[in-house]
Amino acid sequence: MSEEKGTILITGGAGYIGSHAALAMKKAGYNLIILDNLVYGHQDLVDRVLGVELVIGDTSDRPLLDSLFTNHKIAAVMHFSAYAYVGESVTDPAKYYRNNVLGTLSLLEAMLAAGVNKFVFSSTCATYGVPNQIPITEDHPQNPINPYGATKLMVERILSDFEAAYNFNYVSFRYFNAAGADPNGLLGEDHNPETHLIPLVLLTALGKRESVSIFGTDYDTPDGTCIRDYIHVTDLASAHILGLEYLLKGGKSDLFNLGNGGGFSVKEVIETARKVTGKEIKALECDRRPGDPPALVGSSKKAREILGWIPQYPDLENIISHAWQWHQKRHN
Ligand SMILES: NC(=O)c1ccc[n+]([C@@H]2O[C@H](COP(=O)([O-])OP(=O)(O)OC[C@H]3O[C@@H](n4cnc5c(N)ncnc54)[C@H](O)[C@@H]3O)[C@@H](O)[C@H]2O)c1
Repeated sequence: MSEEKGTILITGGAGYIGSHAALAMKKAGYNLIILDNLVYGHQDLVDRVLGVELVIGDTSDRPLLDSLFTNHKIAAVMHFSAYAYVGESVTDPAKYYRNNVLGTLSLLEAMLAAGVNKFVFSSTCATYGVPNQIPITEDHPQNPINPYGATKLMVERILSDFEAAYNFNYVSFRYFNAAGADPNGLLGEDHNPETHLIPLVLLTALGKRESVSIFGTDYDTPDGTCIRDYIHVTDLASAHILGLEYLLKGGKSDLFNLGNGGGFSVKEVIETARKVTGKEIKALECDRRPGDPPALVGSSKKAREILGWIPQYPDLENIISHAWQWHQKRHN
């Protein structure tokens, strides 16, 4: 590529969503540098599949950031790196505020010092807390109910203050549940520990887990189980390219939900996975978990209208098939 497009720094590009975004960006002709501390990332995927430069380091390492910005002509930063385990954020909030807020602030200050002023941020539907209306639109009140969501909301606030004070522009994407895997089987979801429903169901199908737990079967939903909005990771990746291009063309700072627009219940996910895999998949019905809203579904109308985003894989069966293809390859 494509010097004229400039180099894009992708933090957390060795992780799940960042690696899919990096793959899409590479295909679109961008020159990339990935910065990842590899606490949760996978070096083999960056080296073998993405084949882009990986800098192993932390967003809180200011001298490292300064040298990155000095030695490369960085046009924009896509910031995926964060810790994202909601339960752990409750038991160890310091770890989350340090990494997700202070680590991000360190990165933003290095950008300011280097005159890099375009930023795409991974925010989350967890900033909304318990919704009072479905589908959730961007103007819904934000009252996060866990430290993880609070860290992301703090960064949203920092970004808005940076925009007001400095020559700085950003796009924040509030993802709903990222799911699925690269349709060509090159990349997929590989969190350790794994807490997301679809990989847990598929690991059960593979015999790597005994069973999958259904937390609550008495919610006020059609089948009594929680409803969530699953968005294909490749569709998240395409939104990031649109968000970046919007900023590079001079678009003003904004924030967008990224979801499917329709929700699927826990039981629907398990049933669809049984159909896709042809496996029994043992499910255990358990008590509700505290803090789980019955339904979380986002409206992505704004991203469609302003960015022209059109998700290509909204179908649950497609999402699970792609994830299954990846899991079989990864674990067999
Ligand atoms: N997975 C989801 O459903 C979801 C939903 C909403 C928002 N998000 C957000 O999207 C982003 C990516 O999520 P993911 O599921 O790909 O997570 P992930 O853990 O797979 O990827 C995050 C990557 O960031 C790296 N990292 C963490 N802290 C770092 C630091 N200080 N410096 C450098 N690298 C660091 C990790 O090693 C990892 O490779 C996160 O910011 C997360 O909060 C994810």
